[in-house]
Amino acid sequence: MLVDGYGREVSYLRLSVTDRCNLNCFYCRTGQEMEYIPHENILTYEEMVVLARAARALRVEKLRLTGGEPFARRDFLAFLGLLREQCPELDVRITTNATLLAGKAAAVKHLGIRRINISMDTLDPAKFLEITGRDMLDRVLAAIDECLGLGLRVKINVVAMKGVNDMELPAFVRLACDKPVDVRFIEFMPIGASTRWNDAATWTAREIIAQAGAMVRLTPLERHGRSGGPARLFAIEGGQGRLGVISPLSDHFCTSCNRLRVTSDGRLRTCLFSDKEYRLRPALRHPRLGIDHVVGIMRRALRTKPMGYELLELRRRAQVCDRVMSSIGG
Ligand code: 5AD
Repeated sequence: MLVDGYGREVSYLRLSVTDRCNLNCFYCRTGQEMEYIPHENILTYEEMVVLARAARALRVEKLRLTGGEPFARRDFLAFLGLLREQCPELDVRITTNATLLAGKAAAVKHLGIRRINISMDTLDPAKFLEITGRDMLDRVLAAIDECLGLGLRVKINVVAMKGVNDMELPAFVRLACDKPVDVRFIEFMPIGASTRWNDAATWTAREIIAQAGAMVRLTPLERHGRSGGPARLFAIEGGQGRLGVISPLSDHFCTSCNRLRVTSDGRLRTCLFSDKEYRLRPALRHPRLGIDHVVGIMRRALRTKPMGYELLELRRRAQVCDRVMSSIGG
């Protein structure tokens, strides 16, 4: 079992399979021309499988594949197949913008994936174009219906931004009423050098619940122990889905954090808010070092996994870390 210096049990790995994305959302942009990780530095799928096996050796149970946009990397479905073959006990999940998912959901399900998180910050096509730079909302909506039709569990992640999508709360509440999905608002975090985060854009979990509670009757649901994740969920009277809030800023959940992250160039981050990274790629790529060595680095890194909220407090009014979200994977 992986236990960190604060006694937190780590059982969840988020792996960014690529830093590239077919969307260009303003909160992921750097302000300058996007600089992508050079191809030769990106872990191969085979190296990612070795990483997943190392994580399994440490009793990591859940692997979430993120990006950039995972479906934007070539042969992503083949990678899912490899993972299923080599790490059949891993509970693999995907976070995607869903713009490239329609037509592939059946294949994804066939490869053992049962849960998909979809990032979607607006239900208005024109605003989708404004936020992401692409006119693709219809494809996202089609993918959501396709997933639901196949019985996949769908969560919708909405970055909560005042002045950007707060006026769409009624539409998102309606979506959660009409479809069996969890619609989860994530407080906008100050991540990445030159982030557009600012106080005026802050829309807190408390405000969201109060505003939604004036539209529908919400009942808070119990969290399922440690594995329940950071979302606070609410049942909606008469609704098919649920409403959730994730409050990294206003009410942090660092004390129960169970996760590690690895970037697509093989850097282990023990906290979303810390730029301290541990290079796994040399070990993964070295012909003789292998899994034990990777496991050793992960164990050592874990000892100093920080409490992210302390870093946040130190950096009030500036971004808490420099690496952009598109290369961390959320
Ligand atoms: N604050 C909060 N959420 C963010 N995401 C990306 N950038 C930010 C940010 N600065 C979201 C993505 C995705 C999830 C992985 O994180 O939209 O839903």
